[in-house]
Amino acid sequence: MKQTLENIKAAAMAELASTNADIEQIRVRYLGKKGELTAVLRGMGQLSPEERPVVGQLANEVRAAIEAAIAEKSKEMKEKELNDRLAREKLDVTMPGASIRMGHQHPLTRAQREMEEIFIGMGFEIAEGPEVEYDYYNFQALNIPENHPARDTQDTFYITENILLRSQTSPVQVRVMEQKKPPIRVISPGRVYRSDALDATHSPLFHQMEGLVVDKGITMSDLKGTLETFARKMFGDSTQIRFRPHHFPFTEPSAEVDVSCFVCGGKGCRVCKGEGWIEILGAGMVHPFVLQNCGIDPEVYSGFAFGMGLERVTMTRYGIDDIRLFYENDERFLKQF
Ligand code: PHE
Repeated sequence: MKQTLENIKAAAMAELASTNADIEQIRVRYLGKKGELTAVLRGMGQLSPEERPVVGQLANEVRAAIEAAIAEKSKEMKEKELNDRLAREKLDVTMPGASIRMGHQHPLTRAQREMEEIFIGMGFEIAEGPEVEYDYYNFQALNIPENHPARDTQDTFYITENILLRSQTSPVQVRVMEQKKPPIRVISPGRVYRSDALDATHSPLFHQMEGLVVDKGITMSDLKGTLETFARKMFGDSTQIRFRPHHFPFTEPSAEVDVSCFVCGGKGCRVCKGEGWIEILGAGMVHPFVLQNCGIDPEVYSGFAFGMGLERVTMTRYGIDDIRLFYENDERFLKQF
């Protein structure tokens, strides 16, 4: 029996030394209820009273030795596992990180925000109107009746006979005046549409920013002062503006407004095409018919309005020579802003 116990111990030790897998299985096989050591202890009844304590003590020693070996082995395995994991999951904090690419505002959005800031600084509010508009607001209320030649230059896309994609932001003037009584001071940026073929200076979709001021005693000098302040903030302090007589059906008198070329200062260069001036907007005093159409008495109130092309202003400001660049989403272009 002593020999059996010694054999069990030797076998268990040998197995533990060579395994890397399941020690629990080994424990059950030797020390469990149906284990080999337990079987030996059960047979102790057949031993003589003198032999019993000797074998019992040896059995206890064997059990303790196997238990200690199991504990040791399992500690060893846990340590090894941890070390393996630490080696595997090593992190080099000195390696350069994967940089996250940040986007930024589109140049048109940036220019629009900049322009909005300038006008908000002068007390203007921002007004919005629909891009899908009634013929009435886009043309008729603005003193452009059916068959008026001014419609030719603003040919647009029709949804029905009376509904179209707005060809200018001027309909927002009418919508604002219908809803608010003077004093009115609004700008209205947004998309407009015209059935123009796409080339370096034309696009069937572009952006405008409308301005409208209506109050008692508003004169042309208010218009000039407002636009001059805008031009200096947008293009630089030495910028000058120039009014050229023009015609719009919804303003009287009307003008086209140029800014002195901010590249050459008026001498003439490539950007201003030798002119010294760059046209950026149309403007004028709100026509009495338009005030009347909106329920505002032209005997009491007067106002001015202007409308500028956002693309035109942005191209002028940044020296961009092709309008198509704004819409092509070419990163080589966009990254420059
Ligand atoms: N809506 C005009 C255009 O698109 C510009 C304009 C606006 C002119 C307001 C006068 C007053 O050409």
